[in-house]
Amino acid sequence: MGKALFITGTGTDIGKTYVTALIVKKLRDAGLNGGYYKAALSGAVRDEGGELQPGDALYVKKVAGIGEEASNLVSYIYEEAVSPHLAAKINREPINFGRVETDYRRAKEKYEYLTMEGSGGIICPLRWDESQHMVLDDLVKHLNLGVLIVADAGLGTINSAVLTIEHLRARGIPIRGIVFNNYLPQDIMQEDNARMIEEMTGVKVLAYVKKGDRDLDIRVEVLKGLYE
Ligand SMILES: Nc1ncnc2c1ncn2[C@@H]1O[C@H](COP(=O)(O)OP(=O)(O)OP(=O)(O)O)[C@@H](O)[C@H]1O
Ligand SMILES: [Mg+2]
Repeated sequence: MGKALFITGTGTDIGKTYVTALIVKKLRDAGLNGGYYKAALSGAVRDEGGELQPGDALYVKKVAGIGEEASNLVSYIYEEAVSPHLAAKINREPINFGRVETDYRRAKEKYEYLTMEGSGGIICPLRWDESQHMVLDDLVKHLNLGVLIVADAGLGTINSAVLTIEHLRARGIPIRGIVFNNYLPQDIMQEDNARMIEEMTGVKVLAYVKKGDRDLDIRVEVLKGLYE
């Protein structure tokens, strides 16, 4: 059984997939067996044959060089660009968490370092119907995962990062650190954002990713230590 790390973001489109791809690439380039898994992907596009494409998984697979069908790396794929609970309702295809757990465990058995990407931010409803209420934080807790938070480096990030951290703490979910995305070096505000979040929460910004970066500036040993 391998180790795993959960990647959340301070919101949707914040760069979780972009950063995850760099993380998995770093591990694999170091000769480690890094893998990827995502429970539910919405906003998927269709290929010419009309098949829904697991976009996030395809991207990570390509950047990190994972030699597995991308469709094996995602359990549920929805076309609508809405929260999974709503996309599931529209398609009458609710998420079965037994299946998610099975897929997750299978991936964890196959890969030594499994990186699981969330959907949206940490409060993302996955299922909300008569039979079950399940939010992403419930799943993270259920799977016993520690979390790395991807936050935008720019304006507004103190609020969203500190709120995310306070919520994770309230739920008793371990926090491994923060990655600042779309970082502009030597920008007074962005440097202050990192310092303020660290001082207000005690959580460290472990890496800074600039626009277009092809490599994650972090030691492999540090990265390995985030997985459990
Ligand atoms: N550092 C970066 N440099 C260049 N492009 C980036 C960077 N970070 C994110 N992007 C681009 O921004 C867009 C959103 O990023 P990404 O898909 O990683 O977000 P996400 O948090 O995974 O979104 P979702 O909630 O849909 O999973 C993508 O087109 C991605 O390629
Ligand atoms: Mg993504």
